[in-house]
Formats: sequence, C-alpha cells, structure tokens
Amino acid sequence: MTSLQSLKILVVGSGGREHALVQACRNSPLCREVIAAPGNGGIARDARCFPVAADDLPGLARLAAEEETDLAIIGPEVPLSLGLADRLRENGILVYGPGQRAAQLEASKIFTKELLEKYGIPTAQSRTFSGSDEARQHLEGRTEFPVVIKADGLAAGKGVLIAHNRDEAAEAVRLCLDKDAFGESGRSILVEDYLEGEEASIHLMVSGNAFVTLPTSQDHKRIGENDTGPNTGGMGAYSPAAVVDSLTMETIRQQIIRPSVDAIAAEGLDFRGTLFIGLMLTPSGPRVLEFNVRFGDPETQVILPRMETDPLELMLACARGDLSERELKIRPETAICVVVAAGGYPGSIRRGDPIELPPTLPPDAYIFHAGTAVDEQGRMTTAGGRVLGVTVLGETLPAAARQAYALCDQVRFADRYFRRDIGARQIERESGQRMDFSDTESSSA
Ligand code: AMP
Ligand code: GLY
Repeated sequence: MTSLQSLKILVVGSGGREHALVQACRNSPLCREVIAAPGNGGIARDARCFPVAADDLPGLARLAAEEETDLAIIGPEVPLSLGLADRLRENGILVYGPGQRAAQLEASKIFTKELLEKYGIPTAQSRTFSGSDEARQHLEGRTEFPVVIKADGLAAGKGVLIAHNRDEAAEAVRLCLDKDAFGESGRSILVEDYLEGEEASIHLMVSGNAFVTLPTSQDHKRIGENDTGPNTGGMGAYSPAAVVDSLTMETIRQQIIRPSVDAIAAEGLDFRGTLFIGLMLTPSGPRVLEFNVRFGDPETQVILPRMETDPLELMLACARGDLSERELKIRPETAICVVVAAGGYPGSIRRGDPIELPPTLPPDAYIFHAGTAVDEQGRMTTAGGRVLGVTVLGETLPAAARQAYALCDQVRFADRYFRRDIGARQIERESGQRMDFSDTESSSA
C-alpha cells in the first residue's frame, strides 16, 4: 500500500477534461507526480507533457514503461476503443478506463441498443439497418416524425441526424449509408424514435458490479445561444442538474443505473472506468440516449471541482478492481463552466493567436485549457476549436454564472466566441427571470 500512496500518474489526452483530471490528481495526497500525453499549453504548467498522440498506442505504451507509470487515466474515447487500456494492463500498469470490448458501449450504438433491450433498460425504440433499400422502405411507411438516424460508430459527435420529415430522413440515410459520410461508422444505422424532453448527464465510476455516482450535470451541445446551430463537443455545463430532483434520481437509479451496471457485468465486460450515461428526461420517464465510456467534456470541468471525496482515490480503486460502494462527499455549491472557443468552431478555425488571460483568479475559479499551446516566444496561443473553459463555483447558479462571464470577458484572443446563455434555462426556471450576461466586464468593475 505504501507505494500506492505516492503514485506516478499518466493522463492521456489534451482537452479541458484532461486539464481538470491533471489538477485533481495534483490535489490528491496519493499523487507523487503527474505526466501527460500529449497535454496542452495549460496542462504543461501543471505536468510534464510528452508529444505522444492519444491514439499512438505503441508510443503511449513505451512512454508509460519508460516513465515507470503506476496508474494511467485515459481521457478520450478513441484510445479506449483502440484498446489502450488492455495494452497498458498487459504491461502491468494500473489503468482507469475500460478495455476495448467494454469500450464498444460507446463505439457502437447498435451494441449498446441491443444490451439495453436485452436487459429491459428504458431507451428509445429503434430498428437497425445495414442496407439503404430496407431503411428507405421503412421510412416510406413511417408516419411519425421527427425521427433520429444514427450512424453506428464513433463519429466525433456528428453521427446523429434528426430528420423532421420523410425527405430529410431519406437524405440522412443517403448520407449515412450511400455516401459513407461517416466512413466505417455509417455502414449500419439505427432509426430511432425521437424523444421529447430535457437532457442530463449521469457519471458513474464503475468497477465490475460496484459503482459510485458522481454529481449530475447538464451540457449545452449546440454552438448557438438558445440551442441553435450545429452540435459541438459541448459549449458549457453546470452541476448539479437541478432537473434531476431526488425523486427523478431515485427512478434513474432503479431503472437505469443499477440495471446498466449489472448488465455490463453480466455480459462479462471488464469495466473499470467512467460510465457516462446521456439521458433524456421524457414525460414518461428517463430514457438512455447513449453510453460513453469516459468522462464528459466539459462535464468533468464542473464535476471534479465539486468533489470533496478524492477522485484519485476512487479512480485508483476502480483500476485495482476494489471499489466499494458509498455516498460521496460533494460540495453544495453550483459549478458552471463556460467554454471559450475559436471563431468558426465547430467548422474550420484559425490557430496561433495569442491569448490574454485574467491576471488573477478569485477563489473557486479555474481556467481549464483545451486548444492551447505555448509558442516559440513562450506565449500562450490558440491551437484548437474549444480553446479553454472557465469554471466557477458559487452559492447559486446565477452567482456562479455572473462571475464566470466576468472572467470570460477578460479572456481575450482574436475572434473568440462563447455562448452567453449557459445555465440560463435553469436560472429562468428558478427565478422566472431571463439573465443577461452580456457586457459583464464594464458592470463588474
Ligand atoms: P447521442 O450521441 O446518441 O447522444 O446523440 C447526440 C445528441 O442527439 C443527443 O445529445 C441528443 O441531443 C440527440 N438525440 C439522440 N438521440 C435522440 C432521440 N432519440 N431523441 C431526441 N434527440 C436525440
Ligand atoms: N460533452 C459531451 C461529451 O463529452 O460527450
């Protein structure tokens, strides 16, 4: 045990999620050193970074061995679906993250749909097609729209199309199957009933049959305010998600969480990592939209700062397979994260613009870097679509949001963009008022 009190940890990935993970590790008494691959400009201030890509399995295996890593924490889904966790475990390294077979829960929507149906876990009704003729025939006979068409596989969040009528549905099928818009991932599709409701994210840390429940959260996936425009990786989040009240949570626990963890174990999937359940809260109850086998981004940036229980202790227990179920200690404050992106995201963006950051941060405020890099002159510059996330904990959601937006206004780079309505729907529900977070800088002086 003593050797595990001073862990050397490798965090794999380069986003805001990984920056939050790196900081959580550094804050833990169990941690001796954190290294990251490949990391980003901000992570490099907190951990030694190595220029090994997150999908370079041989490179990562070599790095983990050379650096005598005790525990690897794998952030993104791609290395998990390629089998990085298995590979590192074969080399005797403890890993937080599921193996390749279990990673199918995210990598294949059809695999997950079959599991949900087999175990009677509530989800949208759907049919699977691998030929476009059959899919077209089905859609011609369909009377209910909208309908949801999902490419089977990892498509970086772009493989889900919502069709509002028969013509749009035919076009979606053509995109998925005929034109191979999503490559291999589109060869089979799910045609799924459209669910009405509000979305919420549930994160669990799972080890076999045992799990702990992390704080609830809600993401904002669309690029534009009022949930308009194309989907992104996520433009902001807050925690807790008040829509998941205690009664709803009890239903989710009984109908979804416990049966899902048991189903995964019953299928013999060796799951040691984060199970992130995307839910739609419909008028007839919660339904599973998707499973992810990793932490959400930006959900992690609001979940980890609220945890009083040491997340590293829990990840270590999962990795070792000896997690014991218990209630976690969670701070009562609300956390919000506003993602500051480069203009043009989620389309093409410019890189290399210098970033100006707030000179000081108040207590309980964090800037988690994502698409940042340090240039040859030592300046922090933009290097990706989602550049950074500003997280603030506050006594209430409006208080946290006000402070987060004041900080966002102090983050400056050419063509920066962020949504000014993160959490606004919840604030309006609570207070009956529409918050105005524009131009906070001049009023917050
Ligand atoms: P997924 O990757 O399956 O979570 O889908 C991405 C997004 O598409 C979700 O976060 C929802 O906003 C939306 N979506 C997916 N499935 C459905 C559905 N059956 N009904 C309504 N919206 C959906
Ligand atoms: N924020 C959504 C995701 O990480 O998939």
